Amino acid sequence: MGGEKTRPMWWQTLPTMLVLATIGSASDGAICPARCHCNDDTLTASCGSAALEVVPIQLNPEVRHIDLSDNKITHVSFTFRFYNFLVTLDLSSNKIKNLGSSNFDMQHNLKQLNLSRNDIEKISKDSFKGLRAVTSLDLSHNKLEELKSETFRELHSLQVLKLSQNRLVYLEEGIFKSAKHLQELLLDHNLFLELPTGALTDTLNLRFVSLASNLIKSIKENQMPPLPELRTLLLQKNLINEIHQSSLSGLLALDHLDLSDNNFTVIPTPSLTKLSNITKLKLSGNFISTVPPVAFKGLFHLRFLRLDRQEILERIDTRAFVDNINLERVWLDDNIAVDRLPTRLFHGNPRVTHLSVRNNRLTNIEVTHFPLDQLRVLKLAGNPLECNCSLSWLWHLIQEQKSKRLFDLGNDTSEEEEGVSPGELVVDLEDIRCAGPEPLSDVLLADATESQVDCSVSWIAAVSATLTALFIVVIVGGLLYWGPIKRACAKEKELAGVESRCRNKSVGACSNGRSEPFENIRTDKCMIAPPLIHHDYRTLPSWDPYSADCAGNMNIYEHLDLNNKTRPHIVYV
Ligand SMILES: *[C@@H]1O[C@H](CO)[C@@H](O)[C@H](O)[C@H]1NC(C)=O
Ligand SMILES: *[C@@H]1O[C@H](CO)[C@@H](O)[C@H](O)[C@H]1NC(C)=O
Ligand SMILES: *[C@@H]1O[C@H](CO)[C@@H](O)[C@H](O)[C@H]1NC(C)=O
Ligand SMILES: *[C@@H]1O[C@H](CO)[C@@H](O)[C@H](O)[C@H]1NC(C)=O
Ligand SMILES: *[C@@H]1O[C@H](CO)[C@@H](O)[C@H](O)[C@H]1NC(C)=O
Repeated sequence: MGGEKTRPMWWQTLPTMLVLATIGSASDGAICPARCHCNDDTLTASCGSAALEVVPIQLNPEVRHIDLSDNKITHVSFTFRFYNFLVTLDLSSNKIKNLGSSNFDMQHNLKQLNLSRNDIEKISKDSFKGLRAVTSLDLSHNKLEELKSETFRELHSLQVLKLSQNRLVYLEEGIFKSAKHLQELLLDHNLFLELPTGALTDTLNLRFVSLASNLIKSIKENQMPPLPELRTLLLQKNLINEIHQSSLSGLLALDHLDLSDNNFTVIPTPSLTKLSNITKLKLSGNFISTVPPVAFKGLFHLRFLRLDRQEILERIDTRAFVDNINLERVWLDDNIAVDRLPTRLFHGNPRVTHLSVRNNRLTNIEVTHFPLDQLRVLKLAGNPLECNCSLSWLWHLIQEQKSKRLFDLGNDTSEEEEGVSPGELVVDLEDIRCAGPEPLSDVLLADATESQVDCSVSWIAAVSATLTALFIVVIVGGLLYWGPIKRACAKEKELAGVESRCRNKSVGACSNGRSEPFENIRTDKCMIAPPLIHHDYRTLPSWDPYSADCAGNMNIYEHLDLNNKTRPHIVYV
């Protein structure tokens, strides 16, 4: 509405201004509006944020570059006819609603036209008439709902087209028929429901396409035309849950694919396999529950892989990345359901240098999880780590890094994507906290004392446990070995008599509640115990109450046990 009002007013003043402009140039003095900076050497007029409501028409008619960004301009009708040598024109951040018809038709030299951040709703088929030299056209942040297929028909030189942040639902077939040199196409933050297949079939030189933040649900067969030069395809923040397995096969040069924040429940391995030249793959923020073996089959050039923010991911197979022999950096952060990693997960990836596994649910991280000798950066913060002896390797790593830092004064390792101090492994030690055990809960692992994560105590325990186990094995083995011999002897020797006595008497004598559980064992042992230990009677308090004969027999058993200090084990095992 404002536009409609100002336009007639301005129109009335046009003849006067025309005269002024003519006089100005004739008398070697173009008029530069008060808040503009004009430079007649560079032929530049900088009128950014000058509170202008109309395009100034009395600038030097030779002007090459006009910056009118961030003003209150509402229309462009008949304004640029005065400047036929423009090379760049910035009209961004104004209030233009309508571009009208043929308002740029004299701009045969214009290369860059910025119309972003206006209120443009419609572009007529002649709006861009004459712009045959334009290489870069920015129409982002407007209110475009549709574009006629003739819109860009004269823009033969167009290389970069930005249509981000509009309300586009589709693009008409053939809209880029003339734009043979289009290399970069931004269609992000619109309302596309599927890929604009018909429009993309003509853009054989496209190198970069963004369709991020749209409403695309799937990529069906033949929806992605072959784009032999395409290097980057951004599809993050859509609703994609399937990609037909042959639909990406025409993207032979694709290097970077972003599928983050979509609706994938499985890794689309068969479709991705076709992308043999890909080096960067992002799958963050999907609903993938397992990473199966060879999930990224055939992606031998893959170097950067983001598999973070998978809220329901639980399992990663040991062989998940075996094909990706060039893998360098892997992000597995915020996989909040992952409570363990398979051992040797990256041992088939000799080039892995950066691993980030922050904010998972890992309680224990074993040294075998990571190829430490080749890693340069390892991030583990935000896991509920149980800082026991199993983490002493990490503690030692951290202490080593801490001590290095003292010498390496001040060079903050705020590396993000790029280089780190060469040759050394850097751990995010400022953020690695323990969740337990008790004295260490919520303590930085870096602040734990050596004795708190020391393995020596448990080492002794482990050794004594091993020795005990060894004893048990020896005893059981001994029993098994000696048993049959004894049994054979017992048939011929006096122990047969002892045995029968034992049976007869002990069944009666020993049948009080206390000894019942041992009864069978006892009679068994009567038979299998070796005779050579018969002599020692010294320790039998609990069995004493029983009959002498029985006790005599029991002695054999008792003695054997106590001798080895493992009686409870043997009795109950
Ligand atoms: C157009 O202007 C906007 C806002 O000033 C700016 O962010 C954008 O980078 C410009 N576009 C081009 C292609 O230079
Ligand atoms: C694959 O990538 C390499 C390096 O980026 C590039 O030189 C090569 O041309 C690409 N292959 C194809 C088929 O485009
Ligand atoms: C995408 O996934 C979310 C979460 O699983 C679900 O709520 C939504 O309905 C899905 N959308 C589509 C279009 O499949
Ligand atoms: C340390 O804690 C982890 C996680 O609870 C456990 O799996 C591991 O066996 C523990 N290690 C030792 C030596 O106790
Ligand atoms: C930190 O590293 C940068 C580049 O690696 C170097 O220029 C700078 O001198 C270093 N600073 C200190 C204090 O060592």
